Amino acid sequence: MTCYDAATARLIDEAGIDMALAGDSLANTRLGYPNTIPISLEEMIHHTKAAARGIKRALLVADLPFLSYEAASWEAAIAAGRLIKEGGAHAVKMEGGRRVANSVKALINANIPVMGHLGLTPQSIHMKGGYHVQGRKPPEANAIMADAKLLQYLGVFCLVLEGIPAPLGRCITKTLKIPTIGIGAGPDCDGQILVLDDMLGISEGPTPKFVKKYADLNKMMKQSVAQYIKEVRSHRFPATENCY
Ligand code: KIV
Repeated sequence: MTCYDAATARLIDEAGIDMALAGDSLANTRLGYPNTIPISLEEMIHHTKAAARGIKRALLVADLPFLSYEAASWEAAIAAGRLIKEGGAHAVKMEGGRRVANSVKALINANIPVMGHLGLTPQSIHMKGGYHVQGRKPPEANAIMADAKLLQYLGVFCLVLEGIPAPLGRCITKTLKIPTIGIGAGPDCDGQILVLDDMLGISEGPTPKFVKKYADLNKMMKQSVAQYIKEVRSHRFPATENCY
């Protein structure tokens, strides 16, 4: 499950989640950016630090933001090192396969555990022309499988598979020895992840098909605030029991 600060990290940790992701979905869920591209390393460190303060038992993974790891492997090592040393994360996640192989190697050589992320990778929306299911056609599916095998070979400790057909999710999971964590990759991955704000119904607007809304907190929060406004205006709040 994703988390973005101490409060959400504590909530999911206490609920029993195994792995918490300080995800760069922070950009659109909480910081008001249109997608994950603009979020900076400083913003990721700030929120990872807060999340680390809320975690007692889960593994905390932090996302490397766009362009902090693609250009050079030494840049990747410095960015990841900061998420670990300053942010308090136990591991980092980066998107992509072959194209980021040098950065994956550099991090693992620096003793930084790396989680991979393949399929629909939100940091590549401009290259891919939007948020589309990946790996529907055989050449695309083969490329994702090849990247998955390469990441395992390089030493990533697990792999997020996002927005791919369920049979491909099953096939990659069966082929790899490392665990796969699915988000829109079907039921046969070893684990599942959802964006907290999507599954709690905090996010505005339509959510992808792979999201199940376990609550409608957006509606509940708006109704609560509207009720508060009404009660203050009509002098029903504060009542006697709220006064000293
Ligand atoms: O940032 C994020 O929330 C993620 C998940 C969608 C896996 O990367």
